[in-house]
Amino acid sequence: MADRNPNPNSLRLQLLLLQLLLSNSLELHPLDRDSLLDFKSQLSDHTASLSTWTGDPDCTTWTGVTCSNRTGRVTRLSLPGLSLSGPLHPSLSRLPSLQTLDLSSNNLSGTLPCFNAAVRSLAYLNLSRNSIAGGVPTCIASLKALSAVDLSSNGLRYSISPRLVFSDRLILLDFSANSLSGPVPARVGPGLLFLDLSNNGFSGEIPVELTEMNGLQSFSIAGNRLTGEIPATIGNLTSLQSLDLSRNSISGSIPLSISGCFQLLRLKLDHNNLSGVLQPGIAALDGLRFLDLSHNALAGEIPLPLAGCRSLESVDLSSNGLTGELNGAVEKWTELRELSVAGNRLSGPVPGWAFSFPSVRSLDLSGNNFSGPIPGDGDFNASADFNDRGDPAPVEILVIDIVDRQLRFNYVFKSTVGIDLSGNLLSGEIPEWLFGLPGLEYLNLSYNALVGQIPADLKNMGRLKSLDLSHNSLSGEIPAAGISGLRELKSLNLSYNRLSGLVPREEKFYRFFPGAFAGNPGLCVEYNSEGCRGAAEAEGMAVGAVEGDKGLVSVWACWISGVVSFYVSVVAMFLAAPARNFILPSSFSMAEM
Ligand SMILES: *[C@@H]1O[C@H](CO)[C@@H](O)[C@H](O)[C@H]1NC(C)=O
Ligand SMILES: *[C@@H]1O[C@H](CO)[C@@H](O)[C@H](O)[C@H]1NC(C)=O
Ligand SMILES: *[C@@H]1O[C@H](CO)[C@@H](O)[C@H](O)[C@H]1NC(C)=O
Ligand SMILES: *[C@@H]1O[C@H](CO)[C@@H](O)[C@H](O)[C@H]1NC(C)=O
Ligand SMILES: *[C@@H]1O[C@H](CO)[C@@H](O)[C@H](O)[C@H]1NC(C)=O
Ligand SMILES: *[C@@H]1O[C@H](CO)[C@@H](O)[C@H](O)[C@H]1NC(C)=O
Ligand SMILES: *[C@@H]1O[C@H](CO)[C@@H](O)[C@H](O)[C@H]1NC(C)=O
Ligand SMILES: *[C@@H]1O[C@H](CO)[C@@H](O)[C@H](O)[C@H]1NC(C)=O
Ligand SMILES: *[C@@H]1O[C@H](CO)[C@@H](O)[C@H](O)[C@H]1NC(C)=O
Repeated sequence: MADRNPNPNSLRLQLLLLQLLLSNSLELHPLDRDSLLDFKSQLSDHTASLSTWTGDPDCTTWTGVTCSNRTGRVTRLSLPGLSLSGPLHPSLSRLPSLQTLDLSSNNLSGTLPCFNAAVRSLAYLNLSRNSIAGGVPTCIASLKALSAVDLSSNGLRYSISPRLVFSDRLILLDFSANSLSGPVPARVGPGLLFLDLSNNGFSGEIPVELTEMNGLQSFSIAGNRLTGEIPATIGNLTSLQSLDLSRNSISGSIPLSISGCFQLLRLKLDHNNLSGVLQPGIAALDGLRFLDLSHNALAGEIPLPLAGCRSLESVDLSSNGLTGELNGAVEKWTELRELSVAGNRLSGPVPGWAFSFPSVRSLDLSGNNFSGPIPGDGDFNASADFNDRGDPAPVEILVIDIVDRQLRFNYVFKSTVGIDLSGNLLSGEIPEWLFGLPGLEYLNLSYNALVGQIPADLKNMGRLKSLDLSHNSLSGEIPAAGISGLRELKSLNLSYNRLSGLVPREEKFYRFFPGAFAGNPGLCVEYNSEGCRGAAEAEGMAVGAVEGDKGLVSVWACWISGVVSFYVSVVAMFLAAPARNFILPSSFSMAEM
């Protein structure tokens, strides 16, 4: 190469690079090379990700392979997300120094190999998001160095042997999203910090032995077929930060001893059959940030001691049988970002403070017996998110820091910024401030007894995507210009009120036909530039008489029309795609943690 390039500086640079390369080249042990080639020979590699696996003795040229610089043996095989398919070849068991095996997010099939006990060094095994089937071999527990096993999102089946006890080293075990069944394994590894058995077919009760694993920091068995009660010894799990028993058929009451799990950040017991009162023992969990007890059969009032849960950011108590008022316990949850008490039997007034938690972005009080007026401005200042001054929402992640033996939870809130007061007994006028929240995306006041007019000026509601004021007694003219100005609006429902006036002939309105304006006897829909109609008689009118009428005559004709039921074929040509239905998520969109 020096011949072609006589520049001495450049020559020196090239020599230097060559030296660097040589010092970094590493001879791959020939036995491991053969094992890797055997592994590759069984795979179908559409994207040619393993094209560098040619048999070259230099380990550094092999994609995803790391070798020991002393022995040349493979220590790490990391090939996540490369669309590799085919069976897991047993040759992987012949890599005696392998410490890290990450083949996650491929399309590997076959059964889980035992990983010959020769693989004494295997510490990290990640085969998540593949198509591995069959059972979990008990021999896998003989891998003494294992500290993390992630087999989530595969097709693993059958029950897990009760003898499956990993060594003290095992910190993380993730079997989530498989088809495992039978009883819940009671003893999986004494040093375990993270255990995820969610979304399988485990049945029976939560084994009491599991509550002896007092180092456990995160436990999920959500989405299984568990029955029975939460063990009274649950409070022995004193290191727990996240407990998820949701989507099972667990009954009984929440044990008082839950207060023993004093480090809990996240407690999800939703979609079960829990009864009794809302356990005041929860009050001891003063670091709790996420509480989801929705879809159970809890009764009684929200106990005042719960005021002690001052760190709560997301609370979902929806679809229970809670009674009483939204009381001072809730008022103390000043960190709240999401609150749902939908579908209970709560009564009394809606307090002003409910709208003024500094960071609240989603407030769902629907389907209760709240009465009286929606509080006016002046008693409070609506929260920053409603006012579009809140934090933007990035992505949710769970960081598992295995090195420090400590789990870290990172999260953000993705819920719609919304207020849902629908299905109550609220009366009086809608206060003006509710129509002036620039951050609001969803407002549902339907099925109440609200009166008065919708303000003409809606220009401060630039983010509004869904507005439902149906089934009230609102009167006055429809604020056509104001609604036209709502650029983001995708769902509108003003049906079953006493609104009057003219719905203009604009695409903006036609796409909400026919339901959005129904049941307003005084409302009339502009039919062509010369007239409007909005009655049952519309069909007749379209056929004949009114067609020739000009101006006011036809406008008046529709004033007197009765039930509004649009003649669909008249408006069909204006129908846009069906309005998207915005439903305030009653179970908040926390990512799997
Ligand atoms: C071998 O690797 C280790 C860590 O990866 C490094 O500290 C050491 O300096 C390397 N030895 C040689 C001879 O390159
Ligand atoms: C396993 O791999 C998946 C996908 O690459 C990743 O999301 C997951 O965090 C990994 N599991 C562990 C325990 O590191
Ligand atoms: C995964 O493999 C199966 C056959 O084993 C095949 O039908 C499927 O298309 C593959 N999926 C992807 C994403 O490559
Ligand atoms: C577990 O909890 C029970 C009752 O809550 C208690 O009597 C027992 O001593 C606890 N066991 C351990 C090992 O902490
Ligand atoms: C829920 O628990 C009650 C008793 O508290 C019982 O009568 C009912 O059958 C249970 N429902 C389900 C679906 O398990
Ligand atoms: C709401 O209150 C009315 C009477 O005030 C009562 O008849 C009704 O059952 C209550 N609804 C609920 C869901 O508690
Ligand atoms: C609302 O905010 C204004 C200033 O922005 C302040 O003067 C007023 O006291 C606040 N009201 C309440 C009830 O906090
Ligand atoms: C509005 O509500 C009425 C009655 O609840 C329903 O029939 C109609 O489909 C709704 N319209 C839209 C556009 O959501
Ligand atoms: C508003 O609330 C009512 C009653 O809770 C519900 O039926 C309706 O679907 C909601 N509207 C929208 C647009 O989500």
